Amino acid sequence: MRSDALRIGVFDSGLGGLTVVQAMIRLIKGAQIFYIADTKHAPYGEKTEEQILQYAFDITAYFLQKHNIDALIIACNTATSAAVKALREKYPELIIIGTEPGIKPAMEQTRTGKVGVLATPATLQGAKYQQLANELAMQKDVTLFEQACPGLVEQIEQGKIDHPQTQEMLEGWLHPMRENDVDTVVLGCTHYPLVSDMIKKIMQRELNLIHTGDAIAKRLLSLGKNKGHRNEGDLQIALYSTDDIDRTIISRLIGGAIDLKKIDI
Ligand code: DGL
Repeated sequence: MRSDALRIGVFDSGLGGLTVVQAMIRLIKGAQIFYIADTKHAPYGEKTEEQILQYAFDITAYFLQKHNIDALIIACNTATSAAVKALREKYPELIIIGTEPGIKPAMEQTRTGKVGVLATPATLQGAKYQQLANELAMQKDVTLFEQACPGLVEQIEQGKIDHPQTQEMLEGWLHPMRENDVDTVVLGCTHYPLVSDMIKKIMQRELNLIHTGDAIAKRLLSLGKNKGHRNEGDLQIALYSTDDIDRTIISRLIGGAIDLKKIDI
């Protein structure tokens, strides 16, 4: 590994942010990724904004101290909503990229004018989401069907992805969308791409599913290049979790031999 390789810290409350890492693997070379799954505090979506802000500050301080990162990817919609502004103020030199529900691309792609948004309660209640949704609603005549999914992150963390209980939860949440001709669903939580197949099955129609992993990877590449990143050579990934985590899902998502350590933050 070259000594000038881009050092990237990525975090989420658990496994979900690995769906963003998947997109990074497709695009980023010659870099080191350090991923923290903050499973001790999952789910973030049911915590207060102050708590989530504190977790984000602690993780960022850890990344800087231990790994001297050049870039921080908040691979979590909930933590972005609570902490991206404060983190940018505190660390103006750091490349910081957050994750936001892709309502804008969804509004461009829908043909029926009906868009579903699935996210955690904290993301949907956050000022950031409300502002984005209001601004876009003024620009385009699209009806949004917003649905908080409490408990879905836990199901996924427990490996209950193709599970009757998860299906039942999703059927309840998706019912109004199916009845109202929604053709585009925003996955407003990085865990939710893991249940994409089930969402498609329940909606019983051709569906656009919007996930922003690729957009984040592209943005990272462009900001990294501005700082001299050459995007050549190997990509190394080190994974850390603050509590137990399902290793099977990790290998399913990013494959290969996993270097996973438990850390205390
Ligand atoms: N992946 C996180 C997100 O995108 C999950 C939040 C949670 O832990 O509830 O919002």
